[in-house]
Amino acid sequence: MTTKRTSRTAAKSVPSPHPHVLVLHGPNLNLLGSREPKHYGLATLDDIDRALASRGKTAGAHVETFQHNHEGALIERIHQAARDCVDFIVINPAGYTHTSVALRDALAATAIPFVEVHLSNIYARESFRHHSYFSDLAVGVVSGLGAHGYELALEYALRHLQNRTSHGSQKTEKTH
Ligand code: DQA
Repeated sequence: MTTKRTSRTAAKSVPSPHPHVLVLHGPNLNLLGSREPKHYGLATLDDIDRALASRGKTAGAHVETFQHNHEGALIERIHQAARDCVDFIVINPAGYTHTSVALRDALAATAIPFVEVHLSNIYARESFRHHSYFSDLAVGVVSGLGAHGYELALEYALRHLQNRTSHGSQKTEKTH
């Protein structure tokens, strides 16, 4: 029994042979490593991004990372992700978690599945952090596990995309 793969077309529903995952970091996360370490730990954004890119490479996936301090730039990046046929998003919206209808709407508009990540446990902090504009749209939420949370979210994304690939009728056809 052999397996024949169809090549990816422009159609969003056709999975890529190389899963494409976008990791988005919101405002102030560029300061990780020195920013309030009791909440956010000592890993820098660069440490986190390098670990994710390396895991992606091992899994044969394309993992891109993007941080910005401006809401509009994050929204534009999500629009771009739809044009690029990104398969899955891991996002830490940071402060925008609690304020941004516009960022939520961008994710809803593209309908790319996503996991919401927070380094700190937002439910163990000030009450204004307990509400997220993203959680009800997210596939899942990881909060309070530090930088490890990003790795778990990426692991989930890779597993999810792998399952989709092995079960997806458009991607894999069995021939005899
Ligand atoms: C955060 C939690 C948010 O409340 C905060 O504004 C952040 C980071 C986290 O990763 O724990 O900037 O998203």
